[in-house]
Amino acid sequence: MSNITLHTLAARKQAGEKFSVLTAYDATFSHIISSAGIEMMLVGDSLGMVLQGHTSTLPVTVADMAYHTNAVARGNQGAMIMSDLPFMSYSTPEQCMLNAGLLMQAGAHIIKIEGAAWLAESIEKLSERGVPVCAHLGLTPQTVNLLGGYRVQGKDNASAMRMLEDAKRLENAGASMLLLECVPALLAEEITRNVEIPVIGIGAGPHTDAQVLVLHDMLGITPGRKPRFVKNFMADSDSIEDAIRRYAEAVKSGTFPSQEQSF
Ligand code: KIV
Repeated sequence: MSNITLHTLAARKQAGEKFSVLTAYDATFSHIISSAGIEMMLVGDSLGMVLQGHTSTLPVTVADMAYHTNAVARGNQGAMIMSDLPFMSYSTPEQCMLNAGLLMQAGAHIIKIEGAAWLAESIEKLSERGVPVCAHLGLTPQTVNLLGGYRVQGKDNASAMRMLEDAKRLENAGASMLLLECVPALLAEEITRNVEIPVIGIGAGPHTDAQVLVLHDMLGITPGRKPRFVKNFMADSDSIEDAIRRYAEAVKSGTFPSQEQSF
């Protein structure tokens, strides 16, 4: 597979071809995932929960993210690598640029930040300086304490309209991608149609340009209750490679997520 770039993914959106994203945190899985036809790997701050055993993503540091980004970059076989800036590491545009620089130097091709219109200034500055940005809207786990839990966002008309406006504002500021987490499928479809940049969804229904899942969730090894939008692809597979390939195919063909896996 030749190297996937922003240009490749923008062209996929134009052509109406869906692409898949999976979290990766180490070199071995990076090699497996990027060899299995997954276009983008997300070094998510979910590593705070999945790898470190915390109850939220808040304790994750920039040093943690740089360490895991570096490992994923070493195993990569041509996928794009997106890395999360963790909690309180991008509160001002200056802090955001400094920390984004560290993740890009660790091997990221694009950084992801959670928030709404207040991110516009940082996105403008980063993109002017050559750092692509994905803006994460909807359920933003770093603000779980303010949101009062991990809940679906944009359910009423006013908050749905606000999210649509935020999406357009951040695209205009220079965001190269959007990620929508836990939003009603109809709202995610509306946002996807109203922006030109690719939109990745998780718990956002079948109409976004791409899907992302946490690796451990789709392998069925996350302890506890399975969120509605997760499918265990290991259930019908005899190897991890096969499960990941099935996930990529299901996203591409539009069979994942189903209506039952959407809000
Ligand atoms: O950190 C992460 O893994 C994420 C996904 C849940 C989208 O942000």
